[in-house]
Amino acid sequence: MEPMFTPALHRQRHQFVIDFVKRKKPKKVLDLGCCECVLLKQLKFHREIELLVGLDIDGVQIKKKMHGLAPISTDYLQPSYDQLRIELYQGSVTEKDARLRGFDLVTSIELIEHLTLADVELFSEVVFGYLTPEAVIVSTPNSDFNPFSLDLWVSGTLTTSLSGPEQSSSRGL
Ligand SMILES: C[S@@+](CC[C@H](N)C(=O)[O-])C[C@H]1O[C@@H](n2cnc3c(N)ncnc32)[C@H](O)[C@@H]1O
Repeated sequence: MEPMFTPALHRQRHQFVIDFVKRKKPKKVLDLGCCECVLLKQLKFHREIELLVGLDIDGVQIKKKMHGLAPISTDYLQPSYDQLRIELYQGSVTEKDARLRGFDLVTSIELIEHLTLADVELFSEVVFGYLTPEAVIVSTPNSDFNPFSLDLWVSGTLTTSLSGPEQSSSRGL
């Protein structure tokens, strides 16, 4: 299938977060469903950030790619580098976790479509009722542009029904 958007929309979603961070300069940023830490790896270069935390239910996934978050030698040339702390947790967005409170910005990029409807309710309670960050960015693929998702949104969950090329399509659209 030909891509409809350039750059791909999942890249544009990350760019939206980066632009927001440049404008608002949050000090503490939490990325829910951080997956392979792609967004965190971009955010670690924003020197205003002092605490960067990633959470994902899949600890194996995080461990596979977390090494890209480790400092490289040139990082130490930046005077403000030693103020950055990065923490990764295995856990669910449906559970209240005191370590995730007190953030300036919480992001949830292409996560909620992976939750059951009951878990989307819990997600809202946890994020808006318990974590209460200063700002929240939630993004999800738009089913108007995704022929594979139409029935699946109605059934209440996307991931469990998709695999292979269809799933990567849901990321690109
Ligand atoms: C499509 S990936 C997210 C992509 C990533 N946010 C990005 O921007 O590149 C969806 C992620 O959500 C995670 N996930 C699914 N259910 C979750 C839950 N209840 N709590 C935390 N993470 C969850 C999955 O393990 C997966 O890594």
